[in-house]
Amino acid sequence: MSDTTRRSARRICACDAAYSQGSTQARAPATDPAGRPAVRSHTEAVAVASDTTLFSSRVSRFLQVPNGLDGEEHRMMRGLLAPFFSPAALKELQPRLEKTAARLIETRRPERALCAVHELGSLYAVHAQSTWLGWCPEIEDELVEWVEANHEATRSGALERTREVARWFDRIMRDLIAQRRQTDVAHDVTWRLTRLRRPNGTPVSDDEIVSILRNWTGGDLSSLALCTGVLLHWLIEHPEHQAAWPSLDDTALDRAIDEVLRIDDPFTFSRRLVTAPTTLAGRPVAAGVHVVIDWTSANRDPDVFDDPDVYNPAGNAERNLVYGTGPHACPGRPLATLELRVLLRALLARFTVSAAPCGRAQRAEWPLGGWERVPIVLNERRP
Ligand code: HEM
Repeated sequence: MSDTTRRSARRICACDAAYSQGSTQARAPATDPAGRPAVRSHTEAVAVASDTTLFSSRVSRFLQVPNGLDGEEHRMMRGLLAPFFSPAALKELQPRLEKTAARLIETRRPERALCAVHELGSLYAVHAQSTWLGWCPEIEDELVEWVEANHEATRSGALERTREVARWFDRIMRDLIAQRRQTDVAHDVTWRLTRLRRPNGTPVSDDEIVSILRNWTGGDLSSLALCTGVLLHWLIEHPEHQAAWPSLDDTALDRAIDEVLRIDDPFTFSRRLVTAPTTLAGRPVAAGVHVVIDWTSANRDPDVFDDPDVYNPAGNAERNLVYGTGPHACPGRPLATLELRVLLRALLARFTVSAAPCGRAQRAEWPLGGWERVPIVLNERRP
């Protein structure tokens, strides 16, 4: 591994310096950059994510389905939504996703600089999302704009801007839902959402569907774009894997992708609400306090990953926390994994990737993880 990789991987998040030296106790600063108690060790991250009684997910005053729910209500909603990510559903989706990826790759011009995050990851995320949810191409341009605005609002931390972007998203979603409500012909995932009923027969409301779509879209669009940036940056730093990855089978390639995302996890943290006085990282925390699980640091905990930068897909798979753990672990994991695998296969079948001579890769600013910009050049593979 090059020095550049070590240096860049260490700059993962504002608080990752926590893991650069000393004992676990000394390595555990009390708060994240927003002043909230942060859990950084692998052991505590797993413990907090697994204890949904002491650490509630009701962290927002807005409706968040399913991620802001606890207990039975959460289990029921997860159960209702699970079929959308079933192996059968994803098997049906795969050939359509492959076409989507192939179309995007065809339009990328070789030898011309482009940003892996914005001109590849974001675009692919929107096309893949539309393919999955059955949205027409006309709204894709607006969604691409929305992703950019959402990134910018998250970076700015300005509450009014965040609200504005959320309202914009709600408007797009409500239009899509209203169109599906007007037809009895089952035609896509979004239509099926509008027909969902709880086990007691109550229909899932439009507000709940907007929230589900917000969580799916938030999970998919931003994370997928950031994951693409992390993966391509790593492949540029480790070109030997550009030759090796295409011949891996699906299971091995999925593990390879997960492992690179563990080394440089762009999904920085999740929040929890403490329901009773407790102790975290050796410090007392009162009930009612918001704490964060710092996934990026937990995925680089040297007590668990001897050298966090060492690429060991099979050896580290079981302890990988990129998609979280416990009852709130990412339900979209099989979809995200499929989307990333399909993109990389399409890209690496035709191109090798190198750093663009103009401009340097630039880290995303907390609370985002991964890279803000990764300038790349695609080079046609020689036959
Ligand atoms: C692209 C890479 C992705 C990463 C790295 C990622 C990561 C995560 C993580 C770490 C969690 C756990 C949050 C917690 O414990 O509070 C989570 C939850 C969640 N993810 Fe993802 N995710 C990704 C893609 C997706 C996709 C594609 C979807 C859906 C289309 C999705 C939907 C969700 C939802 C709904 C939750 C909340 C689950 C719950 O609270 O029960 N994610 N994700």
